[in-house]
Amino acid sequence: MLPKIYFLLFLLIGTLTCDEGVSDDDSYEEIEVSADGESRRGKLLWSYHPLLELVMKVSGNSFIYKGNGDFFNFIRDSYPLPNGRTSPLPEYDFVIVGAGSAGSALASRLTENRNVTVLLVEAGKPEMLLTDIPAMAPYFQATDYTWQYYMEPQPGVCMGMENERCFWPRGRAVGGSSVVNYMIYTRGRPQDWDRIAADGNYGWSYNEVLQYYMKSEKASLDGLENNPYRNKEGVMPVEFVPKRTKLIKAFLEAGKILGHPTTDYNSPHELGFGYVQTTTTHGHRQSSAKVFLHKHKKRRNLHILPETTATKVLIDPQTKTAYGIEFVHNRKVYTARVRKEVILSAGPIASPQLLMLSGIGPKDHLTSLGIPVVQDLPVGRTLYDHICFPAAIFTLNTTNVSFKESRALNLKTIIDWLRDGDNDLSSPGGVEGIGYIKTPVSDDPEPVPDIELISIGGSIVVDGGPGGSKAVRKGMRITDAVFNEVLGAIDNSDTWSAFPMLLHPKSVGYLELKDANPFSHPRMYGNYLTDPRDVATFVASIRHLQAMAATEPFQKFGAQVHRGRYPKCRDTPFDSDAYWECAVRTFTATLHHQIATCRMGPAGDPRAVVDPELRVHGVNKLRVVDSSVIPRTVSAHTHAPAVMIGEKAADMIKKTWGLLKS
Ligand SMILES: Cc1cc2nc3c(=O)[nH]c(=O)nc-3n(C[C@H](O)[C@H](O)[C@H](O)COP(=O)(O)OP(=O)(O)OC[C@H]3O[C@@H](n4cnc5c(N)ncnc54)[C@H](O)[C@@H]3O)c2cc1C
Ligand SMILES: *[C@@H]1O[C@H](CO)[C@@H](O)[C@H](O)[C@H]1NC(C)=O
Ligand SMILES: *[C@@H]1O[C@H](CO)[C@@H](O)[C@H](O)[C@H]1NC(C)=O
Ligand SMILES: *[C@@H]1O[C@H](CO)[C@@H](O)[C@H](O)[C@H]1NC(C)=O
Repeated sequence: MLPKIYFLLFLLIGTLTCDEGVSDDDSYEEIEVSADGESRRGKLLWSYHPLLELVMKVSGNSFIYKGNGDFFNFIRDSYPLPNGRTSPLPEYDFVIVGAGSAGSALASRLTENRNVTVLLVEAGKPEMLLTDIPAMAPYFQATDYTWQYYMEPQPGVCMGMENERCFWPRGRAVGGSSVVNYMIYTRGRPQDWDRIAADGNYGWSYNEVLQYYMKSEKASLDGLENNPYRNKEGVMPVEFVPKRTKLIKAFLEAGKILGHPTTDYNSPHELGFGYVQTTTTHGHRQSSAKVFLHKHKKRRNLHILPETTATKVLIDPQTKTAYGIEFVHNRKVYTARVRKEVILSAGPIASPQLLMLSGIGPKDHLTSLGIPVVQDLPVGRTLYDHICFPAAIFTLNTTNVSFKESRALNLKTIIDWLRDGDNDLSSPGGVEGIGYIKTPVSDDPEPVPDIELISIGGSIVVDGGPGGSKAVRKGMRITDAVFNEVLGAIDNSDTWSAFPMLLHPKSVGYLELKDANPFSHPRMYGNYLTDPRDVATFVASIRHLQAMAATEPFQKFGAQVHRGRYPKCRDTPFDSDAYWECAVRTFTATLHHQIATCRMGPAGDPRAVVDPELRVHGVNKLRVVDSSVIPRTVSAHTHAPAVMIGEKAADMIKKTWGLLKS
């Protein structure tokens, strides 16, 4: 506590003496990554907020794994090898690639048995003090805590984003995307998982996955103490966000008026609206790393290598058996062998990429890139994502009701937050509530929602104005020109918005390799809104928001839908369906829930990559354990599902190798 405050004082002095506007040269860091003689130059931007910028700069270039002389170690977590080891072993029982939501949980559970050795390799760095601040969530999307992926150009979506391309940042850290995400905790509806099981995925019905959701969970949710679906004894904290604006009350009240009860939306029988539940403790982020790895650093059998990138799974082509991985650390290539299994937990983009680089994927595609084929499988051929529309914004006639960055982020609030965790900084990017609705255009025969509404104590204009970081719009890669034209008139004013998120898109995307270089990004095709039903669902959700805004709880604040002047929508009359379609096509924002690229399905399923025990079809000793295996869209943000997958996989793997305590 005390050293942290000194550090913050130092920061304050730093920010005061530093020029506010950092010169272009300073805000870029060029890194060079090379492998196989190939090289790529990455440009990393960290120029959003003076505080963040400074910390990134002073602590950005350390190699935790190698040294212990990093002055800023006390604000950055570290994972030295246990027992003073300086290098990893040549062989482990298991090697796990990726310390994300799923991989961290899996590594932790497997090493509960001290006879089992695990090597966990992670491309990113450990988290640090600022990543713990929920309100800073939007700031990390352009730092080296994320992979800066872009979707391939698709005409007619993301029209207001830079170069009209959709930006797909993903976490790159010990803790993976759970270090940069919005911490929203959701499990999905029972029907989602029951349908997955009905496709032949034994063990994945709602009741079966529920025990794994509950196994992780350490709920501290006021009013839900006796709820039989919530566990208070697990390891992963889930709580209500301590700080709220008046707008969340209005959201819940308006919901009730329109027939949506305030419920625990994570309980199976209850569909409705509620305060957002987050993976935080007293307003501090609890990433998968903090929950599953941080406490177990001293386990002799768990070796964690940050800043280490796996480049290939080593597979014997004759026996089709995985026997290790190749990885790059500090520009050197190493191998690690396994006695038992290789497990890919590199997430929905990198897991399929690694499979394909290792010869597992669509035969013609691999052949065209000169990659010898080990197993012909539809890797990457299915890709679903959750997109939202962040600009259904309602202006208010009342001041000081919404969050304001200008009011929130300063030295005093950071110190208060460190001590009590209950001020504006505890808010996950302003998210206060979520609500599930089934719009009139849904064709689902069961009570499965088609839209999640994410209520914000404000909107994407909260960080604007003079001196504002504009982190949210920058994180979404919205261009200044389009932002100013559509939202300039209400920038930094008091507003309410809710992002409608399309839960079950009918449009399906895919991804493939760009080339055989492991440091290239794959080519990702979202195919957003290619099915007209997805557009209709968005329009219906905006109508629902307008109906909410028209109720008394919002009219008290004089809520009025903002009339944006969308540059590409000038021919559409304001508030027509066509206007809203065009608006959605201008601001098409991913919620970063890409799934299904290593789809799970039983043998004989032509779209399946892994079987219901997550073993790669036709290859021995190789599994995929992360959100890429989720075969169908689920009514959930995907962090808790990924953790659940890690928990469930740990038991399946222990069972395979006789490691389950009876
Ligand atoms: C900005 C953002 C906001 C989000 N908000 C929410 C939210 O509020 N609630 C929610 O439930 N979900 C949210 N999500 C989604 C959720 O965080 C992810 O779906 C989930 O974390 C995925 O878990 P995973 O284990 O599949 O992959 P990840 O957590 O992404 O982990 C994969 C890890 O593998 C590493 N890796 C990749 N390639 C290699 C390699 N070659 N070698 C070594 N390591 C490698 C990566 O660096 C990463 O750390 C958000 C995601 C993002 C990016
Ligand atoms: C670990 O291995 C030893 C020696 O093989 C064995 O006696 C012991 O029971 C094992 N422990 C566990 C938890 O499996
Ligand atoms: C709004 O908050 C600001 C800053 O705290 C304050 O100066 C102002 O008087 C407030 N306005 C109203 C109408 O309460
Ligand atoms: C805002 O508008 C509503 C509805 O018109 C009105 O009742 C309320 O008094 C207004 N509030 C302010 C502060 O003007």
